[in-house]
Amino acid sequence: MARVAIIGVGAIGGVIASLLEQIGRHEVFLCVRRPLAGLTVEKPEGGTVSVRAAVVTDPAAAPTVDWIMVATKAYDVPGAAKWLGMLRAQGAPVAVLQNGVEHRERFAPYVPMESILPVVVDCPVERQAPNRVRQRGVMHLKAPESALGRAFVELFAGTPTDAVEVPDFLSAAWTKLCNNAAGVLPTLLLQPAGVFRDEAIGDVARQIVRECIAVGRAEGARLGDELAETVLQAYRAAPSDSLNSMHADRLAGRPLELDARNGVIVRLGQKHGIPTPSNRMAVALLTAMVQKMS
Ligand SMILES: NC(=O)c1ccc[n+]([C@@H]2O[C@H](COP(=O)([O-])OP(=O)(O)OC[C@H]3O[C@@H](n4cnc5c(N)ncnc54)[C@H](OP(=O)(O)O)[C@@H]3O)[C@@H](O)[C@H]2O)c1
Repeated sequence: MARVAIIGVGAIGGVIASLLEQIGRHEVFLCVRRPLAGLTVEKPEGGTVSVRAAVVTDPAAAPTVDWIMVATKAYDVPGAAKWLGMLRAQGAPVAVLQNGVEHRERFAPYVPMESILPVVVDCPVERQAPNRVRQRGVMHLKAPESALGRAFVELFAGTPTDAVEVPDFLSAAWTKLCNNAAGVLPTLLLQPAGVFRDEAIGDVARQIVRECIAVGRAEGARLGDELAETVLQAYRAAPSDSLNSMHADRLAGRPLELDARNGVIVRLGQKHGIPTPSNRMAVALLTAMVQKMS
């Protein structure tokens, strides 16, 4: 049994809470910034799970725990960090369940490096209301092979999750980034995934991913040339009306994970002297469009 705090109970945090609820082995605390009256998660295997974990709204009243899982958006890290002082009173590790490749860098100002566990999350899930989440498929969690990674995976033993340690976490994170990077196009165009079926848009998507592959390789990730086509075909095979989470954020007027998903490719490309014109243009256009709306 472990005491587990989840900071950020949206789509991903909600699924994590439901999985831990299903096995009933851990004491779970939901750290939220607005009161949460119950949480119901629709499960892919059918039925729903009602999460009965304790809800905490005040970081100053947070309990001391054994594990912390952060599932806020990447741009909400400073807010998430306000919870860490009390939760980490005994040095609990922090699993960062966010997109991108800079999990450690984001939390380095707040947590010692050896206590940060980056996690790659794959899960088709939407938050339908503040207290209702619809999980449409299995959650896949990848953590680096390490003592912390092993302890993290063990927390999920007995849950219907695919939680694993991977020997080459860097490549896993960059592979996911390649997927996310192409998602900037529907977000820019305000058209769902069906837009990838257009030949010209497909070519731009391949180019965005090729830049990500080049920068990822310079960072040490092992990424095959075929990944650009794999990513495009996955988007083309998705339901034509599906929305990626950055697109959903734009429609809802929320901030965007643009820096974590595309800005990082431009920044690290610059560091390695690798041109990233497609990502650079996407970041500039989307930033200008969002600023114009606000
Ligand atoms: N959704 C997916 O399908 C998916 C799949 C794979 C990976 N991811 C990644 O997983 C991460 C989480 O995404 P998500 O889709 O779960 O986001 P989300 O549904 O927007 O949930 C984020 C949650 O964080 C909360 N939050 C923000 N600041 C907080 C603070 N200071 N204290 C407590 N809670 C705070 C938000 O609270 P409010 O309700 O008050 O705004 C919201 O409930 C992102 O990096 C995303 O890219 C998502």
